Amino acid sequence: MERAVSAPARPRPIIAIDGPAGAGKSSIARRLAEVLGYVLVDTGAMYRVVALAAQRAGVAFGDAAGLGTLAHALVTRGALAFERDEARGVRVRLDGEDVTDAIRTPEVGMGASTVSAHKGVRDALLDLQRQAGRAGGVVLEGRDIGTVVFPDAEVKFFLTARPEVRAQRRHAELIARGQGVSLEETLADVRQRDEQDTGRAVAPLRQAPDALLVDNSDVGIEDTVARMVARIREKRG
Ligand code: DC
Repeated sequence: MERAVSAPARPRPIIAIDGPAGAGKSSIARRLAEVLGYVLVDTGAMYRVVALAAQRAGVAFGDAAGLGTLAHALVTRGALAFERDEARGVRVRLDGEDVTDAIRTPEVGMGASTVSAHKGVRDALLDLQRQAGRAGGVVLEGRDIGTVVFPDAEVKFFLTARPEVRAQRRHAELIARGQGVSLEETLADVRQRDEQDTGRAVAPLRQAPDALLVDNSDVGIEDTVARMVARIREKRG
């Protein structure tokens, strides 16, 4: 006979989406949240804001203690704010300033990857992420949502694509934003971030054993989202 051992079910599920840089997580998570009518939580944006704040405060990305203190201070004073935005999905504020675009540069992306390896930084943001998701009816995207932040998430996906495809997409995005980088540089960046994100000691990027692997190298956003919606229906009945 089966015995219920888990916590009482949330009325609406937590959907966890993890995967490497440039796998299309942002666009797909955003579209999925829209289709389901759920809240979207972009946890990468949180690490990006910490990297930006560190850059501005002159705290080196390798300074574990300094970054831990900075991240705790930011969370404690409520400096990070995320608002729903029709055009951008999520609008991000740092102490009231709109930093939605400022956190999307390659430097801040790489900085976020570096600062996110520090335990103090991860601990500071973990509470924020759990608060944002705990009620359910939410799509969270990141690197460790299904493994660390919400290991009890009802539905988990590990979204990926071939490195060359991810670099091409990233490159097109950066060019569209007027940032002049080459495809080779972008591919090198993608590979370096993969190494950093999977190689770190704390909360490395891993596919949770119960996550569905979705490779979208040759599949468009709408078809990928449709596949994910089907999986959610299948798991939730
Ligand atoms: O998804 P993104 O590119 O915006 O994330 C930026 C960096 O933040 C990524 O390289 C690793 C880090 N990150 C993390 O360590 N854990 C998360 N849950 C989300 C992002």
